[in-house]
Amino acid sequence: MRASYSLMRTFLSFLLCSCVIGASTRYLDVLPSFRPAKSLRECHVHKCERRPSDETFTARKCHRRKGHLEPMGSQQKSMPNVPRVTMSDPRAFYEKYVAAAEPVVLAGAAAAATSGVEWTNEFLSRWCHLDNGRPWHAIVEMNKVIVSNTRHPLLQEIAGEPVNFCTFLRDYLKPEYKDNMYLISPLTDPGVQLGKHVEMPSVLQCPEIHESVHETRLWMSSGNSSSSLHSDTHENLMLQVFGTKSVYMFPPSQSHKTYMDYHDRYGLSPVHPERVDLDKWPMFAQLEGGMVAHLHGGDALMIPEGWWHQVRTRPGRNAAVTWEFEPYEELLNNFWPADNFGRLWSSQVRRKYAMKTNLTTRGGPIACNETLPARTTADTYRCNERQNTGEACTFRCIPQSCVTQQLQAKLAGGVNDRGKYGYGNELHELLSTFR
Ligand SMILES: *[C@@H]1O[C@H](CO)[C@@H](O)[C@H](O)[C@H]1NC(C)=O
Ligand SMILES: *[C@@H]1O[C@H](CO)[C@@H](O)[C@H](O)[C@H]1NC(C)=O
Ligand SMILES: *[C@@H]1O[C@H](CO)[C@@H](O)[C@H](O)[C@H]1NC(C)=O
Repeated sequence: MRASYSLMRTFLSFLLCSCVIGASTRYLDVLPSFRPAKSLRECHVHKCERRPSDETFTARKCHRRKGHLEPMGSQQKSMPNVPRVTMSDPRAFYEKYVAAAEPVVLAGAAAAATSGVEWTNEFLSRWCHLDNGRPWHAIVEMNKVIVSNTRHPLLQEIAGEPVNFCTFLRDYLKPEYKDNMYLISPLTDPGVQLGKHVEMPSVLQCPEIHESVHETRLWMSSGNSSSSLHSDTHENLMLQVFGTKSVYMFPPSQSHKTYMDYHDRYGLSPVHPERVDLDKWPMFAQLEGGMVAHLHGGDALMIPEGWWHQVRTRPGRNAAVTWEFEPYEELLNNFWPADNFGRLWSSQVRRKYAMKTNLTTRGGPIACNETLPARTTADTYRCNERQNTGEACTFRCIPQSCVTQQLQAKLAGGVNDRGKYGYGNELHELLSTFR
């Protein structure tokens, strides 16, 4: 998850245009009227206190409101399955799903991209070193269930030994570590070998999409994980390599009902997705257009930019590789209006969505009608040096692409400054200046 620079520019332009808005107008002043309501519980994304009456309430099944205090998705009348198709043609995929911003499950696409090779621990252990023989200092987070705004803390050592992909593979299924190791690491770091074994999915193989890839990432854990409800500022084709996943999704048009304007970080909903308190978040029950994707190993899921999603996994080893791309970054740069309405995060997401489908359903500037000549693997997208800019990358990477190097540089300096490099914190900083 990250915030795009176009968004950042938006905020910069807000700063510049504060003369128009009026210096005393604050972000909070333009928030919509459906504010979080009063509730007996303290129930938001990071925690949800139970009250004794809740037990009676749920035991008796006397639910006054469908899905109150239940996981997200149970508030809706129905959550149909995301359509499941078999397809490999980039142009058809682009038109039907990317341009139209429609989620889809591509049966077998992850299996095809990994050439049907089974990613056993033995297989992965063969590639756990960098190509120079040194360990790959992959990023391993300590929480598999969302607990805070930031993605801290990171697991840096186990029993005095630095964590890397090799030690991760050795430890992540052990009872003592299975609940606190979640590997989320770019495959674009210098020397990472695993990327050689992930082909660019055939549906992405046209020049415009190829050029717009910003990151490929490995996500791996022992399962039993639960994410926040959030939306991203990039398109995401997620390859489920092994294990299963359930992804609960709502369209960008519904962004205001996730109460994202009441979170202090862009792209996150403050609602606890495993225990939705409808006393506090009544609009959540009115979310429409929801869908769920139940993925099996070998499947892929297209999560279009701006779509809200929560990811749940069952216990058991689990791995996915994401292809994150942004074909509209340049095209949409100049559309942001500098008015009050545009300052609201949820309305930005909704506008961008409306704008994007408008732009792209008319034959648009992206044709995606030529196929790439050569086989492309994830390792062809690569950052070459310790750099925190895109300049040393072989692709249009984002500064966060080289996050491992940045992080390691920071850690070496004794400062854990990860939050500075992504996940929307820079927006938050700008916003606090603006307040
Ligand atoms: C799943 O995680 C929860 C903590 O979030 C833990 O209490 C539970 O024991 C875990 N279940 C399994 C089967 O590991
Ligand atoms: C979509 O395009 C039409 C015609 O060009 C335009 O009138 C309309 O305002 C556009 N909608 C958005 C949300 O930009
Ligand atoms: C692809 O689309 C572009 C723009 O519509 C067109 O100029 C070009 O001839 C097409 N190429 C092929 C191979 O169809």
